[in-house]
Amino acid sequence: MEVVAKAQYLTKRYHGVLAVDRIDLEVYRSEFFGLLGPNSAGKTTTIRMLTGQTKPTSGVAIVADYDIIHQPIKAKEHVGVVPEASNVYDEMSAWDNLIFAAELYGVPRKERNKRAKDLLERFGLYERRGDRVGNFSKGMKRRLTIAAALIHRPCIVFLDEPTTGLDVQSARIIRNLLKELNRSGVTIFLTTHYIEEADQLCQRIAIINQGRIVALDSPEKLKALVEERHVVEVSFSPAKDLDGQLKGLKHVSDVSWVGDRFRLYVEDASEVIPLLIDFGRENKLRIVSINTMKPSLEDAFVKITGLSPEVMATEKEHAKKGESLG
Ligand SMILES: Nc1ncnc2c1ncn2[C@@H]1O[C@H](COP(=O)(O)OP(=O)(O)O)[C@@H](O)[C@H]1O
Ligand SMILES: [Mg+2]
Repeated sequence: MEVVAKAQYLTKRYHGVLAVDRIDLEVYRSEFFGLLGPNSAGKTTTIRMLTGQTKPTSGVAIVADYDIIHQPIKAKEHVGVVPEASNVYDEMSAWDNLIFAAELYGVPRKERNKRAKDLLERFGLYERRGDRVGNFSKGMKRRLTIAAALIHRPCIVFLDEPTTGLDVQSARIIRNLLKELNRSGVTIFLTTHYIEEADQLCQRIAIINQGRIVALDSPEKLKALVEERHVVEVSFSPAKDLDGQLKGLKHVSDVSWVGDRFRLYVEDASEVIPLLIDFGRENKLRIVSINTMKPSLEDAFVKITGLSPEVMATEKEHAKKGESLG
């Protein structure tokens, strides 16, 4: 697989603080790659180093075959950057912002109008192209920022928490746009502190905590790290005391009561479900419900980082407060 971005031993120290601590990662062409971690984990610093906005204390960063430290101009021709805070100009129209970005990136004059029009259409902003960006909603502004980052047709786009602080609807629009963008072949490097978002979007996820990458794999493989056993929940009618009998079933290692259901701990849910159906038939019991539950990425995240789900929940609150303030 072709590597389009690479960090080797990448490190950033701010005075006493080790913001990013010897990270190694490779991003493959056309991949949707996620850097997931709580507040202050080092996500922004990592993006800033990979995109040449801040100099690493040590280590190597390579993007599109160019060393970002020694060949920053060449590298930046192939890179799009969407920073945490929108970098479009409020006093200019959406159209003028894109034309300005095109000039800045050296897009040939003949191409500028066509590209601006295409992007505004794709991002649902064409009707509003003449409006001052200062009058845009947060979600529209974020979309315009992403459009501006694409004007020079980069092969990889770095996005720093692109949905943080947005309402649910705007966040969904952005996620769909990013999925489409990725489907069209653009490599995406996204940071987020939303476990759900990383799970939904990313083909591979690096989990970063206190400057260190503590896991890097596909969401499914990360979940498998905590997948020691499956859980199957089943309820029967009429309700009876069946623990003993259920425990006797093949492949079932333990049984407990949860409300009106039996919770079965099993090695493989797909083997147990037919046995439960037979069990119901033989005992003249109707199965009211059967649910299988697999570990979530959140379970994996908690196990890997040792952070409680509450930490991430608190961060979500911060994000919401940020929105009401801004
Ligand atoms: N310019 C800076 N000067 C000093 N410390 C910084 C600076 N930028 C980031 N840090 C520190 O580096 C750590 C990582 O920050 P950051 O990369 O912004 O994390 P994240 O984006 O994951 O929230 C934090 O402890 C933060 O306070
Ligand atoms: Mg950040």
